[in-house]
Amino acid sequence: MRTAPIVAARVAYDTDGTPLAPDDGDLYHARHGALEQARHVFLAGNGLPARWRGHERFVILETGFGLGNNFLATWLAWRDDAQRCANLHFISIESRPPCAEDLAALPRDPALAPLATQLAAAWPPLTWNLHRLSFGSGRVQLLLAFGDVSAWLPQIDAAVDAFFLDGFAPAKNPHMWEARLFKAMARIAAPQASAATWSVARPVRDGLRAAGFDCTRAAGSGGKRHITIARFAPGFAPRSTPRRTRVRSRVRDEPVLIIGGGLAGCATAWALAEQGIASSLFERSATIASAGSGNAAGLVHGVVHRDDGRHARFNRAAALEAHRQVAIAIGRHGVGGAMAGLLRVESQGASIANMRATTARLGLPADYVRAVTSEEASGLAGVDIEAPAWFYPGGGWVDPRGLARSFIERAADRIDLHLGVAIAGLRRDGGDRWLLLDATGQPLASATTVVLANAGAALDLLDASGWPIERRRGQVSAAAAGPRATLPRLPLAGAGYVLPPIDEQLWFGATSQADDDDVAIRREDHRENLDRLGRLLPNLRGIDCDSLRGRVSFRYSSVDRLPIVGAVPLSALGARLRPGLGIAGSPRPEQPRFAPRAPGLFVFMALGSRGIAWSALGAQVLASAITGSPAPLEADLLDAIDPARFASRSFRRAGAAAGRQDQRLEGPIAGGSAGA
Ligand SMILES: Cc1cc2nc3c(=O)[nH]c(=O)nc-3n(C[C@H](O)[C@H](O)[C@H](O)COP(=O)(O)OP(=O)(O)OC[C@H]3O[C@@H](n4cnc5c(N)ncnc54)[C@H](O)[C@@H]3O)c2cc1C
Ligand SMILES: C[S@@+](CC[C@H](N)C(=O)[O-])C[C@H]1O[C@@H](n2cnc3c(N)ncnc32)[C@H](O)[C@@H]1O
Repeated sequence: MRTAPIVAARVAYDTDGTPLAPDDGDLYHARHGALEQARHVFLAGNGLPARWRGHERFVILETGFGLGNNFLATWLAWRDDAQRCANLHFISIESRPPCAEDLAALPRDPALAPLATQLAAAWPPLTWNLHRLSFGSGRVQLLLAFGDVSAWLPQIDAAVDAFFLDGFAPAKNPHMWEARLFKAMARIAAPQASAATWSVARPVRDGLRAAGFDCTRAAGSGGKRHITIARFAPGFAPRSTPRRTRVRSRVRDEPVLIIGGGLAGCATAWALAEQGIASSLFERSATIASAGSGNAAGLVHGVVHRDDGRHARFNRAAALEAHRQVAIAIGRHGVGGAMAGLLRVESQGASIANMRATTARLGLPADYVRAVTSEEASGLAGVDIEAPAWFYPGGGWVDPRGLARSFIERAADRIDLHLGVAIAGLRRDGGDRWLLLDATGQPLASATTVVLANAGAALDLLDASGWPIERRRGQVSAAAAGPRATLPRLPLAGAGYVLPPIDEQLWFGATSQADDDDVAIRREDHRENLDRLGRLLPNLRGIDCDSLRGRVSFRYSSVDRLPIVGAVPLSALGARLRPGLGIAGSPRPEQPRFAPRAPGLFVFMALGSRGIAWSALGAQVLASAITGSPAPLEADLLDAIDPARFASRSFRRAGAAAGRQDQRLEGPIAGGSAGA
């Protein structure tokens, strides 16, 4: 997906106080009131609240978030309904969201005002992303897609129960009502999905019908004669959905088994608990977060890349999600850390002018990232910095052990922790359950759904070879913190990194060594880390290498430097585990989303050197894959982190090679060399 800068809406008011968008020349809602319109057109028009009753989850997709009145009215109706569904998912697409100040200052119906205050407090930076905002202990999830509706609709991975069609009037905003958009909606419509809009314009009704929706007129309100309500009832077999091949299991009734108690496993337990799913977590050590996740501190920040490609987008999405969850860990669970900003000092020689040109061209907002001069960076850090830097105001540092603990605490009574229990094997029980085995081959637990979150050791359990995973040793160093004047107030990253003093210790690092299994702390590695520190803080002198403490652990990364998150593809499973597993999905998966999977078997690994920043988003993606709830990430990024991506790439490469071979055999295509 190509991104574009997000420009904030200009919100003005008509003489009667109705908010309007001067750039589009239209009102945000009917004059008789936003709440009235939301209740009559969008809720009643979609048969709500009655239709969500008795459901585990109900999924709504809105075109045009605008000022959020429909979302707030829906949340209010859900909150006040004693028979509400367990989880409400509201996806909304908006190309011109209001800025935080405008949103907070909007006059609201008194019934909506308290919820509006919570929405304003959670409002994200205006970046092209699917922002996941969570309310009501996670039971209400708002997925806000900032960007154009035609770019976003094909990227939504969800089964939608009700559509709220709320662009500006078709005559003024025809792009929001194009026939191809209704077709894109049809591809993500759940069986029996409904749609409603205040518009009765002919092109809208024709477009809905052509996409398989039965349209009827219903009575309008507030002086409007009619509205359109529609039911998805295609007279044709819908094209295959763009959703990942589903391998849903009976997760409601039994705990999901999670292997590994590092950040990946603990975050997964939390994300499942948010959706009401219990888990049993098995960790071979006596404590959680004692291996890769056991450092005293680590960094959280995004990435800027001039093309805003997949890495940049994934890292931005992850950093925004991490910001929210780390802030909760620090604020509510007493975890060490500070999300008060981070400086990434430019180490590739880019000039401040180039850096500013990049942020301007990408339209990245200042509350996500700012290019700052070395003087500005020095002012922010409180120490001399000799190069320009990227300042991430929402970045920071956190103790990963504490972050893991906070995930477990937030999973509360929905987690059963088994510490000091190593899982030595994995086997199918002959039916649809997975067995976790001890070292003697005896079953320790069984379930239909298992998550392997045990870093590199997952490959042993999967009996898999050939996964493109690299293991790199990392040693961090710590010195007794000297005079404060020479130490940074903010974490600094660059060629290496250094944290502000924590418990009178200055942590910095880190080495990165392939093919190195040495667990001992090495003096030469301390020296290497001191060199890195010297490049970040040239004025810091006099640290004696022999006085340093340190810690060694190992990072597991994929070759493409993205995590591996999702259902295990059959092709990646060892031969011992494959027999008896049915094939659902394409046997020739050019795209990861169509790869056949091992039912109920999921993996969350290869968090590399960014596991602190990636764990929350990765866990949410995994939980949505398990429960079938809307994915909090766009489809092309889901492909980018899908465990099936490596097999799909090989398949495509083989296809391309075969194509070249065919061409050589057939000679030039007729007419291909016209000049000859
Ligand atoms: C030196 C260094 C610096 C880093 N700095 C940063 C940073 O600044 N920012 C950042 O975002 N990330 C950073 N990281 C990366 C981050 O720490 C890791 O990506 C993350 O901790 C990995 O989490 P994990 O849960 O996948 O693995 P782990 O934390 O290793 O957890 C896996 C767990 O599984 C358990 N286990 C394994 N096999 C079994 C089994 N068979 N049965 C039961 N339990 C089992 C292990 O005991 C372990 O506890 C750094 C990493 C290193 C090494
Ligand atoms: C009528 S308002 C929506 C009101 C909103 N549902 C509410 O409850 O406050 C229409 C919205 O559609 C948005 N919009 C218009 N064209 C768009 C496009 N191409 N992609 C995404 N959003 C668009 C506008 O910016 C505007 O906020």
